[in-house]
Amino acid sequence: MIYHTRVPATQLPLISNVLILLPCSAYAACDELDRDALLSLLFKALLNWFASDDCCFWDGITYDPLDHRRVIRLWLPKRGIFGVISSAITNLTRLTYLNLSHNSLLGSLPDDLLSSLPNLQVIDLSFNHLVGPFPPSSNGSSHLQIINLSSNFFNGTIPSSVLVPSISIFNVSNNSFSGSIPMSNHSSHTSLTF
Ligand SMILES: *[C@@H]1O[C@H](CO)[C@@H](O)[C@H](O)[C@H]1NC(C)=O
Ligand SMILES: *[C@@H]1O[C@H](CO)[C@@H](O)[C@H](O)[C@H]1NC(C)=O
Ligand SMILES: *[C@@H]1O[C@H](CO)[C@@H](O)[C@H](O)[C@H]1NC(C)=O
Ligand SMILES: *[C@@H]1O[C@H](CO)[C@@H](O)[C@H](O)[C@H]1NC(C)=O
Ligand SMILES: *[C@@H]1O[C@H](CO)[C@@H](O)[C@H](O)[C@H]1NC(C)=O
Ligand SMILES: *[C@@H]1O[C@H](CO)[C@@H](O)[C@H](O)[C@H]1NC(C)=O
Ligand SMILES: *[C@@H]1O[C@H](CO)[C@@H](O)[C@H](O)[C@H]1NC(C)=O
Ligand SMILES: *[C@@H]1O[C@H](CO)[C@@H](O)[C@H](O)[C@H]1NC(C)=O
Repeated sequence: MIYHTRVPATQLPLISNVLILLPCSAYAACDELDRDALLSLLFKALLNWFASDDCCFWDGITYDPLDHRRVIRLWLPKRGIFGVISSAITNLTRLTYLNLSHNSLLGSLPDDLLSSLPNLQVIDLSFNHLVGPFPPSSNGSSHLQIINLSSNFFNGTIPSSVLVPSISIFNVSNNSFSGSIPMSNHSSHTSLTF
């Protein structure tokens, strides 16, 4: 077992290093509430989410075997997923990596998407048909490092509060946002694209 969950999330090595190491062992099945939340997302029609009760084996899912088998990664880019992102996603409270880019997602994001997912480090919803406002970010500790909401139809203003110090890359280009570009005093940002 090489995966160290006891280090703070912000010190984890970057995405691809972490995620291939999680085994699907005979003793593990993902958390039941996480499984129910995933089923409520209704993405299952296109995936293998019917095949087993244990979402360890489901397409696009990675869980942390050392943290109560909670789902930490939902990675389903380019899977032809159609529909809205249900608020059930906010029950995946350990979610760290979210990539649903290049699908046909519609509608607006749950208001509490970011505030309900305090562990989220990477969110890539680029190249969909999402509309509505930028979801308010959580107050307090955020671990967000990469936000890619580019190439959608989001509108309204971009709240400056979203540029938390942990943000490294932020891309909201090719949307319908209006108003002024938020200013940030944090030197930690590598790339901000509006
Ligand atoms: C999300 O998945 C797409 C398709 O595989 C990939 O190109 C993109 O880099 C991923 N996003 C992030 C933030 O890694
Ligand atoms: C979160 O899970 C609980 C327990 O299953 C459920 O009652 C609640 O409706 C879920 N929340 C959302 C937003 O779906
Ligand atoms: C964050 O805090 C500010 C002031 O403390 C408050 O006005 C705002 O509603 C809070 N936002 C969220 C998403 O909780
Ligand atoms: C979204 O942006 C991130 C950070 O720049 C990048 O790694 C990722 O590849 C982008 N996603 C897509 C689908 O291009
Ligand atoms: C932002 O995303 C768009 C695609 O939506 C891409 O063309 C552009 O290169 C990205 N910008 C940066 C700095 O990564
Ligand atoms: C802008 O976003 C739309 C909707 O996702 C997409 O069809 C189009 O290819 C994007 N344009 C660029 C230049 O990335
Ligand atoms: C965003 O777009 C929707 C329609 O797609 C519209 O009803 C709403 O008023 C717009 N909001 C803003 C702030 O422009
Ligand atoms: C950035 O710093 C300046 C001066 O220190 C301050 O007036 C301004 O309110 C700060 N902006 C934000 C978004 O924190």
